[in-house]
Amino acid sequence: MIDWHFSRPALASEHLELLFDKGVSRLTFFGRRRIGKTEYLQRDLMPAAIAKGVVPVYCSFWENKDQPHLAFIRVIESALPEGRWKPKLKIGFQAALFEAAAEIERADRPKAALPGELTQAAGLFAAWIKHLDDRPALVLLDEIQHLATSSQFATFAASLRTMLDMAPPTMRVVFTGSSLADLQRLFEDQKAPFFNFATVMDFPLLDRAFVDHLAEIHHRITGLRVAAEDLWSLFERIGRNAQILTGLVERLVLLRTEDWKLVWEEIEGDMFGENGWCERAWHELALSDAVVYLRLLEGKDLFSEDSIKLYDRFGFSRGTAQQALRRLINRGLLHRAGHGRYQRLVPILDDWIRGAGVDYARLLEPRGEQDEGSSEDPA
Ligand SMILES: Nc1ncnc2c1ncn2[C@@H]1O[C@H](COP(=O)(O)OP(=O)(O)OP(=O)(O)O)[C@@H](O)[C@H]1O
Ligand SMILES: [Mg+2]
Repeated sequence: MIDWHFSRPALASEHLELLFDKGVSRLTFFGRRRIGKTEYLQRDLMPAAIAKGVVPVYCSFWENKDQPHLAFIRVIESALPEGRWKPKLKIGFQAALFEAAAEIERADRPKAALPGELTQAAGLFAAWIKHLDDRPALVLLDEIQHLATSSQFATFAASLRTMLDMAPPTMRVVFTGSSLADLQRLFEDQKAPFFNFATVMDFPLLDRAFVDHLAEIHHRITGLRVAAEDLWSLFERIGRNAQILTGLVERLVLLRTEDWKLVWEEIEGDMFGENGWCERAWHELALSDAVVYLRLLEGKDLFSEDSIKLYDRFGFSRGTAQQALRRLINRGLLHRAGHGRYQRLVPILDDWIRGAGVDYARLLEPRGEQDEGSSEDPA
């Protein structure tokens, strides 16, 4: 069987080296949705860890969005040899459901961990450490920011922090998160459970080699040659969304064609068309976010006198514009490229904005339902 996975062994050994040879005890990767974080943890970092004699465990806090502590309990429980710990809880885990739920980023009915469950988590964790018997271990905690999305999760977050704090130095931790504002809430707020616990770094994006790898798979299966150069510029336009590109190449293989434009037209409809991804992404923005985004699109200085006057006309302040920037970063639409410099990450959204004739005057018209993004507002 042909494996579509594009492996990144050099990156994995670099990270393992940082953790196990250079003494960095915890790493946090931040990266927007669908850029390959989970696949990297599971298919690259875990196998490389095993090859190095390190015992890895992987837990995604999106496995159980309402009760993330149960995901943790399940993972540690299954890391223990059978019989060491008799499960007292019945935890339902449905992989298919998880896939469908993956689009929804917040818990529906967040439930706090019961005292007994916290005790159980700590007990299991201690049993696992004992079972490790000084072997090095790597704990991978995916979507850690989820713990910052509800006050119901605070007690579990605090006890998780304590567990990790008391773990032996042979245990290292990698966190990933896809929402910067939530990560900041966990890691940077002085009262936050993980304050100063790990340094947040950008997750390295998949690059041209990934695109060439997919083009090569397409060639091996169909005997045809797709223009990798074109796929690469497409990949950049869609903000390096690995899921869309893999889906596109799968479709090319299925249709036995090298005509990527044909398949892109189908996908483009979903993205550009009425009620497509771009339109929805745009309408989800709060007014201040939209104004700031347009300002960036025009290449204007965001805090010049003219800009402040413009914000004033829309009824918001300089401080709100700063919050808007954070929300845009949080949504994966912008990247902070340096002091006061912001890079737009999803060029197709820019194309859509230009094509749809969106401008400041149109923004002043009623925009229908608006999400002020307050739940994501770090301020
Ligand atoms: N290294 C890779 N090789 C091949 N395909 C990949 C690779 N990384 C990602 N993909 C494709 O992109 C999809 C999304 O990747 P993944 O789920 O790892 O992203 P993510 O950053 O964890 O997203 P989310 O924030 O939504 O959890 C995968 O299901 C797979 O189809
Ligand atoms: Mg993921």
